Amino acid sequence: MTSMKKAEQKIVVLTGAGISAESGLSTFRDNNGLWENHRVEEVATPEAFDRNPDLVHGFYNRRRQALSEVKPNAAHLKLAEIEPLYQSFLLVTQNVDDLHERAGSQNLIHMHGELLKKRCVLCHQVSHQRNDLSVESICQYCHQQGTLRPHIVWFGEMPLLMNEIMLALMQCDLFVSIGTSGTVYPAAGFVEVANQSGAHTVELNLEASEQASQFKESFHGPASSVVGDYFN
Ligand code: OAD
Repeated sequence: MTSMKKAEQKIVVLTGAGISAESGLSTFRDNNGLWENHRVEEVATPEAFDRNPDLVHGFYNRRRQALSEVKPNAAHLKLAEIEPLYQSFLLVTQNVDDLHERAGSQNLIHMHGELLKKRCVLCHQVSHQRNDLSVESICQYCHQQGTLRPHIVWFGEMPLLMNEIMLALMQCDLFVSIGTSGTVYPAAGFVEVANQSGAHTVELNLEASEQASQFKESFHGPASSVVGDYFN
């Protein structure tokens, strides 16, 4: 464990689906590799959207609707509570739910996009979205029909704000990874960048992830308890 006081530390926290599991949202690699009964290639690739936009819109509409049935758990709340205690604190999430912001986290990057946003493929405007999207939806900016897609990073697409994330990783003293299987790059490679920057690196996960051997410390258990224990 680093001997620096929190107020002197720069910290980057990475979260994955495991932090939202106890709120009632499915992780990706449970259920024989199916996510809410779909293979990822059916719903989470640009090719799937080109092939069957109704299916993909329907899938993300259901994920968006499900947000109103869940709430942040103790792990989300703990991260929001400790944020002001650090010299700098960046929370990078792979999750597309809004539980971190509902818990009160401020300096937050959704590297894989957000369910509550849409994007126009024609004019590229990103805007908030609460209701369902369909091929009939009309862009409020360029007024074209059928040009809106979920603002989600699909497989084969570039995650968002990578420059900011890499800069923070290269400058951090502490990197903590929570509830992620460490199988999807570039997020799976963040621990290596943090190690090379001389940071202390910690994994908090239900079980050892694929990257577990790269972390200097690991604590295993449900996020609602390990996150609280670690940051107390
Ligand atoms: P995964 O489903 O791959 O991994 C979730 C991890 O959380 C696993 O290692 C579980 O053991 C762990 N876990 C489950 N319940 C937990 C709990 N209560 N407390 C702590 N840990 C728990 O999800 P991600 O790693 O987030 O990308 O997946 C990464 C990316 O792959 C996702 O962002 C998504 C997906 O395909 C895109 O959609 C682009």
